[in-house]
Amino acid sequence: MKDLTPERSELDPIEIASVDEIRALQLDRLKWSLRHAYDNVAMYKHRFDAAGVHPDDLQELADLAKFPFTYKDDLRDNYPFGLFAVPRTQIMRLHASSGTTGKPTVVGYTRRDIETWADLVARSLRASGLRKGYIIHNAYGYGLFTGGLGAHYGIERLGATVVPMSGGQTEKQVTLITDFQPDGILATPSYMLNILEQFHKAGLDPRDCSLSVGVFGAEPWTDAMRQEVEQAFDMHAVDIYGLSEIMGPGVANECVETKDGPVIWEDHFLPEVIDPETGEVLEDGEMGELVFTTLTKEGLPMIRYRTRDLTRLLPGTARSMRRMEKVTGRSDDMIILRGVNVFPSQVEEQVLATGGIAPHYQIELYRSGRMDAMRVHVEANPDAADELSKTAAARMLTKRIKDAIGISTEIAVANPGEVERSQGKAKRVVDNRGKG
Ligand code: DLL
Repeated sequence: MKDLTPERSELDPIEIASVDEIRALQLDRLKWSLRHAYDNVAMYKHRFDAAGVHPDDLQELADLAKFPFTYKDDLRDNYPFGLFAVPRTQIMRLHASSGTTGKPTVVGYTRRDIETWADLVARSLRASGLRKGYIIHNAYGYGLFTGGLGAHYGIERLGATVVPMSGGQTEKQVTLITDFQPDGILATPSYMLNILEQFHKAGLDPRDCSLSVGVFGAEPWTDAMRQEVEQAFDMHAVDIYGLSEIMGPGVANECVETKDGPVIWEDHFLPEVIDPETGEVLEDGEMGELVFTTLTKEGLPMIRYRTRDLTRLLPGTARSMRRMEKVTGRSDDMIILRGVNVFPSQVEEQVLATGGIAPHYQIELYRSGRMDAMRVHVEANPDAADELSKTAAARMLTKRIKDAIGISTEIAVANPGEVERSQGKAKRVVDNRGKG
């Protein structure tokens, strides 16, 4: 794989400023952001007043711990525009996440917010090893999802040529990759596997294609998955993290030279990691729930937003800003099976380590008598689809999961192509416990 490390001179000066300089900038901006939220959003005023805190109480960054949290439900309760801190006429764009239940979560951006977002995605792509002049194939979904348009504006800001492909039409994706010869691709990791499969179906060797970097995010993916994709395409696979409520893609991004967890763009977002039960702020290095406060957002300032993503904060390496450990689980995705906590990513690691089966999987939860049970749906590789190989693979995966995670599972090995394919964010868990 090519060395794509950017030159120091290509970076934004703040990326490599001293930690003191970054903290000073954060303090200034945090004061502004708390004041902006308090003065312009009724919910923040009520919350701060009820908690007996005022923006003037923030003297140092650690004082943020005195302020109340914001939750996803607050966006739903103030649907659609109740948390906007500027008149609606200054909102230049809306996005929304579908959400599995009830009302969508709506987010809004001013012109300056859109500019900042483009800058940060451009910074993220540069950290990933992409540059001005490259061709970048964008397979994140366009529309209300922040992935497509967020990435699109960042690619343009970088000065690259964008192919606004969006998700789906997998055959066409492969045709365009073959014909346009892009240097980089942006997609969810699960959709990239779908594209990989299409290369094979078309009789093409993915290692011969032009791609040298893939920037993957919007869902958890493991280092095992990284290796799988890097090997298959002979390209770098880099992690991009973000969430709509805070901005969209590009809140944090890995550096191609280290691949040691996304660097949080701390000049615009202040991270904390808390104990999800008590709300207590944890030391850097400790595992907990990631909480973000926006430092520059005008349209929708977020104060201590509870992401539900589980990770830890790590010191800077390739940049001065702190990193987060690759997010491999959300508190919402945690399965509690007969007292054992399991994340889909733990199952993913074992699926990828087992020979004879494809990297596509789905976890089904069901009731077995009075107990909860788990069935992992995987499928045989085309060259190992006979009954004997399938039985052997099932036995191997059962044992791996038992040894690594400590739970007994049923493994269903289907024929090639039978496990549901992802078009964007993969649905990893199907919960049938309430049924029949
Ligand atoms: O998924 C924004 C995005 C688009 C990020 C494209 C990266 C690339 P939401 O739909 O609001 O926004 O979902 C946000 O997705 O809280 C995480 O749980 C999860 N997530 C996003 N990126 C990663 C990642 C976009 N790199 C939620 N690793 C977040 C693990 C991720 N989980």
